[in-house]
Amino acid sequence: MNAYSTTLAQYLEQHATDALASAITTLATASISISHLLDKGALAGIHGEAGNQNVQGEAQKKLDVISNDLLLSALTHNPHCAGVASEELDEISPANNDGTLLVTFDPLDGSSNIDINMTVGTIFSILPYHRQGQKACEDDFLQAGVNQVAAGYFIYGTSTMLALTLGRGVAMFSFDPSSQAYVLINDKVTINHSTQEYAINASNRRYWLPPVQEYIDGLVAGDTGVRGKDFNTRWVAAMIADVHRILIRGGVFMYPYDTKIAGKAGKLRLMYEANPMSFVIEQAGGASTDAVQRIMDITPTHIHQRVPVVLGAKEEVEYIKALHDKAGILANGDKA
Ligand code: F6P
Repeated sequence: MNAYSTTLAQYLEQHATDALASAITTLATASISISHLLDKGALAGIHGEAGNQNVQGEAQKKLDVISNDLLLSALTHNPHCAGVASEELDEISPANNDGTLLVTFDPLDGSSNIDINMTVGTIFSILPYHRQGQKACEDDFLQAGVNQVAAGYFIYGTSTMLALTLGRGVAMFSFDPSSQAYVLINDKVTINHSTQEYAINASNRRYWLPPVQEYIDGLVAGDTGVRGKDFNTRWVAAMIADVHRILIRGGVFMYPYDTKIAGKAGKLRLMYEANPMSFVIEQAGGASTDAVQRIMDITPTHIHQRVPVVLGAKEEVEYIKALHDKAGILANGDKA
């Protein structure tokens, strides 16, 4: 017997509108199916490539496609959902014209981890829809992250969990396989302002801007350098897992602007990854920028737009911004 008793359904009844509760329940139901498929692994025939590329030019895994189809079908049948946008699909899918919500999702973040039995997850963001009675189009989705009414992620790790914000803090739920329900384990997740742990793919160092190189050099120098303390690196190569670690025990995560691929302003997607994770991180007391500007203030120009991301412990996010300010450059290397 444990001390936890509030289910996701009870939490939503107390804290969310009927429309939001319904959309989040639909997402949670789909996540349980995805979690079961992941549990079966190779036995469910989900390992390996699907044989196509997604809109981002990445090889799709079989479970990317299955998860995408599951979420898309469930959400487009939800009466409150006016439209859906998936990281895996070129175009948005209009749903129910009378709905009041738009949902964007990354069906399986970190999917290259599936074949090696490591953590993956589903990230979602919910925006308001204002043109009831009319068919949703891409322009309706192009809202800054500050407009999000809810966001979160389902993480499929050693256990399946949900981190959720409705704009009043962050709640963490754990999936209970015996009752098949998400159960509240922490209704006030908070991130420390300072940290000694950072996450970045350091193999990209030669492509970074000078302020990011300077920052990481300072961390690597540890107590012999400007920071005067030692830091540890952690990199799961699935944003969902790196962000989850930060919510649980602190840290800073970066996928900064780099010059590796011409014309790409960083690797992560604003609407499917950066905005929902920024909402969660800010609501837990952390900060999230593109290195200089608050991510949730960026008005998207395209649903598949990419942005540099620096998020987590406030002190580190501010320190990185100060290095860019000192160098007089923006997050993409332009002069400030
Ligand atoms: O969405 C892309 C993603 O898988 C993120 O989840 C993760 O943080 C990043 O790519 C890993 O990138 P890299 O391959 O450079 O380690």
